[in-house]
Amino acid sequence: MAIPTIRLNHGGVSMPVLGLGMAPNPAVPDEVTKNAVLEAVEVGYRHFDTATIYFTENALGEGISEVLNRGMVGSREELFITSKLWCSDGHADLIVPALKTSLQNLKLEYLDLYLIHWPVSGKPMPPAYPIQPEDFRPFDYKGVWAAMEECQKLGLTKAIGVSNFTRKKLELLLATATIPPAVNQVEVNPTWQQKELIEFCKTKGIVVTAYSPLGGPLGGHNGVMESNLLKEIANAKGKTVAQVALRWAYEQGITVVVKSFNKDRMKQNLEIFDWELTPEDHEKISTIPQARTCSGLDYTSPFGPFRTVEELWDGEA
Ligand code: A2P
Repeated sequence: MAIPTIRLNHGGVSMPVLGLGMAPNPAVPDEVTKNAVLEAVEVGYRHFDTATIYFTENALGEGISEVLNRGMVGSREELFITSKLWCSDGHADLIVPALKTSLQNLKLEYLDLYLIHWPVSGKPMPPAYPIQPEDFRPFDYKGVWAAMEECQKLGLTKAIGVSNFTRKKLELLLATATIPPAVNQVEVNPTWQQKELIEFCKTKGIVVTAYSPLGGPLGGHNGVMESNLLKEIANAKGKTVAQVALRWAYEQGITVVVKSFNKDRMKQNLEIFDWELTPEDHEKISTIPQARTCSGLDYTSPFGPFRTVEELWDGEA
């Protein structure tokens, strides 16, 4: 079954509403990642979501080259490829070069979507995680976003956006933007539903993409996959908990990136477009206790700019 697409507000590009997350945790050999790309395309994925800091751009690029060489898709245009700017390159003069490096890694001429990974800048240096406490720098909304706009104008990416931005930070960015962000990629799942942020983004024409839709890389050992409430809904429908969580996200009117490098689970995660949750299911899911999976603690520092996670997330629930 073909994956539905959603038109982004700028750049004339349509995004498949479900993509494959390319952040294996723990890391896997490049060959495994490349093979996952081939299997994903085989079962129907067309949207791949990587980032400089995932260190999978090269392997994804190898996979894409092989997909094209083997004629598994008609052309590059049938794929939707996202990558993300790492914080150490979050400075106006480093952004176009950083995107060019990503394109080189991916062996592509353009991205479909380039995102600011975090609303945080780090000391200019080769990408490394985590950022050391003394290496955080002030984030220049105006200069950084102008450079992102330049990336789009140069044709290096069809669309630009952000990740891990709160409503407050989106407002700061929109205050000087001439091209509004097309996407805000944030954690969304039944245990961190983000209703207000999603609503806000809708009013601004910004598409939300859910990361960690199954509750993150612990897969099977977290609030989403172990929720009895989700298990009950899944059992009653003859679906899996993962499918219920993904369908729930899709029914919020948002897009999703989900990571599995296992062919059966990849396929399972695509099989969410020919059935529905009921209003009662939504009602029940809305009662699930809320907590972030990704706390953001690694983006705080006693030296600032964000000393606490409350400051990073602007106290927004
Ligand atoms: P695996 O790659 O072995 O399938 P998220 O996308 O929320 O970060 O979750 C990713 C985690 O969930 C991975 O550990 C992945 O493991 C696991 N996962 C992905 N799809 C499924 C599924 N359909 N059923 C169970 N676990 C899944």
